[in-house]
Amino acid sequence: MRRYSRITGTGSYLPPRRLTNADLVAELAAKGIETSDDWIVERTGIRARHFADAGVFSSDLGLEAAKNALQAAGCSAQDIDLLIVATSTPDMVFPSTACILQNKLGANGCPAFDVQAVCSGFVYALSIADAMIQAGAARRALVVGAEVFSRILDFTDRTTCVLFGDGAGAVVLEASDTPGILASDLHADGKHVDILCVPGHVSGGSVLGDPLLKMDGQAVFKLAVGVLEDAARAALEKAGKTPADVDWLIPHQANIRIMQSTAKRLKMSMDKVVVTVDQHGNTSAASIPLALDSAVRSGKVKPGETLLLEGVGGGFTWGAVLLNL
Ligand code: ACO
Repeated sequence: MRRYSRITGTGSYLPPRRLTNADLVAELAAKGIETSDDWIVERTGIRARHFADAGVFSSDLGLEAAKNALQAAGCSAQDIDLLIVATSTPDMVFPSTACILQNKLGANGCPAFDVQAVCSGFVYALSIADAMIQAGAARRALVVGAEVFSRILDFTDRTTCVLFGDGAGAVVLEASDTPGILASDLHADGKHVDILCVPGHVSGGSVLGDPLLKMDGQAVFKLAVGVLEDAARAALEKAGKTPADVDWLIPHQANIRIMQSTAKRLKMSMDKVVVTVDQHGNTSAASIPLALDSAVRSGKVKPGETLLLEGVGGGFTWGAVLLNL
């Protein structure tokens, strides 16, 4: 009998410090940076984001999200035999945030590693966990997206610092006789490295180059809408399905206009799109599992429904995962 993987629990966590646009506009104004609630809402759909306090790391946010997902799945950390963390804001250069989180969780012993695909990290990690479960290399995986993007923002650059937030989301993915994950489609094109990057690196005990996020927003926007449509159609085709079969589109929460364009290209109504960017901002690898968990917990997304998760981010990377919840 063919072996599949299935999500059996979701969880998420947002650090308590919440900044509305008005809060951020006031903080930036004090530094001489001019922006407005109107500009941020009109261009991005973002109204608020959460920032972690100093000393709180991706593994700390991931820990809370993971505990919630394990509780929802009705299992304990010791039941996990694979741990993957998607993050671009790891606690340390090494070891991986997955190893640090594993120890905090008490899931010691199972394989644990990070996936670095920026905002596509969660769909990459979910696809890898699915492949390992299908191959018999794991039975119950914990897949986490966790970020503290506030640490790599340049708060003198109004074109980027208003866009991002911190948070974490997680799912428990278990071996199953029935699908679960129906298809996935992943891509990267390294020729676009420069349009979205944190170019600094550590050398000789110092950071050389700029350690803060740089983005060509318009280039990202144009690429994102094209590749999100392509990835969605490819994943659907692999499963013999069409956009009409999808109950909920859960895209990376970068910008409401990218989500609207993607939905339009797929001829899907915005009523079928899960939107949390207004409350979370762009939380990179955490955005999809955060949106998924909030939709599950609010009762919007129900067991048995067909979901299309889509990520796009620095690299450039992009991908989609189609699944039955
Ligand atoms: N407040 C006020 N004005 C601003 C701000 C701000 N925060 N930021 C930029 N502006 C100004 C610009 O200076 C410019 O002024 P000018 O016309 O006088 O020169 C004007 O607004 C328009 O700027 P644009 O860059 O043309 O604005 P645009 O409509 O393209 O919106 C945005 C910018 C929101 C960044 C958009 O390009 C976008 O969403 N791109 C995609 C970004 C994204 O999703 N990134 C995440 C990808 S995922 C990942 O891997 C992290």
